Amino acid sequence: MKIHSNYNLIHANTFGVEAFADTFVHLENEADAIDFVQHHLDKNKPYMLIGEGSNILFTKDYQGTLMQMQNKGFELVDENPNFVWIRAAAGEIWDDFVAWSVQRKYAGAENLSKIPGTIGAAPIQNIGAYGVEFESIFNTVEAIEIASGKKQRFYLKELNFGYRDSIFKTKLKNKFIISSVILKLNKFPLFKTDYGNIQEELNKMNYENLNVALVREAISTIRASKLPDPKEFGNAGSFFKNPIVVQEKYASLKLSYPNLIAYELSNGNYKLAAGWLIDRAGLKGFTKGKVAVHKNQALIIVNLGGAKGSEILAFSEEIQQKVFDLFGVELEREVNLI
Ligand code: EPU
Repeated sequence: MKIHSNYNLIHANTFGVEAFADTFVHLENEADAIDFVQHHLDKNKPYMLIGEGSNILFTKDYQGTLMQMQNKGFELVDENPNFVWIRAAAGEIWDDFVAWSVQRKYAGAENLSKIPGTIGAAPIQNIGAYGVEFESIFNTVEAIEIASGKKQRFYLKELNFGYRDSIFKTKLKNKFIISSVILKLNKFPLFKTDYGNIQEELNKMNYENLNVALVREAISTIRASKLPDPKEFGNAGSFFKNPIVVQEKYASLKLSYPNLIAYELSNGNYKLAAGWLIDRAGLKGFTKGKVAVHKNQALIIVNLGGAKGSEILAFSEEIQQKVFDLFGVELEREVNLI
């Protein structure tokens, strides 16, 4: 375990904003995590977990303790003729897990290629992309209760997964340190290539039989063409969620904007493409000082270099206001705010 005081977070968040945490602790394994919460953590001050910092915006210093799980490893825990169960340590990088499983020809995670963040953060956020949500390959979370240091397991039904949502963002927020996740992957791929332009990208490749490595490659290419590399321009992926509206609202918008992009949900509501709304509001590439709307994907806000978290927040509120004024639709943040 390594405990740091007055820790500069500039490299601990993919927005690349400077802020300081009173205490920052690297937990190398489960035993470290248990020892820390039982004997060292000051529970009278704020505390929370941080992964790769790829979905967080620090608008001020953190006057408490940030804990980062750094345990490592992927291990096959069970298999049958159709499936494998893999335990992945919370401190691993999500995309390293996808690469590991694709290498072994295990299927189910390939559409989630190149999503930033750690394994431990994946269930909290129920990450998703290209028609696949994390919950579809999820089996178990193994976690340590911060109050007691006791280990506990959570299964699918207990997690209340929703769109970028889980019980770890609501009832159990800040109550557990996720130490590992067990994922269930398929030995026989069920390809999902009908989302967006995956098929178009695959058609450009020369292959005889489709496999998970090809799907990963196609998705990696699409993502690289749209999404900014945080090493070049700080960002946290989609800044807003795609808003969900009732059928009447969708119908009236569709009348005024026939090109509106929306997906019908099973309950009759519609999910609108926030990127399209921001784009249609003329804000793609919109820049103010050191902050901009990404030129290739309007759902992403980028730090052009040296922006403060508070500037990014003010900029994002301006986007929300402009979209609301034009469409009467409220954009909710996807990024977590500190
Ligand atoms: N669009 C525009 N202009 C833009 C951006 C998008 O017209 O500037 C249109 C696109 O043409 C497309 C539609 O909006 O028809 C949706 O765009 P896209 O497929 O790029 O996906 P998204 O809805 O903007 C979501 C996730 C992404 C994920 C992609 C791909 C959310 C908030 N975002 O974005 O996840 O990679 O789908 O599946 O659900 C993230 O969560 O950080 C993230 C990057």
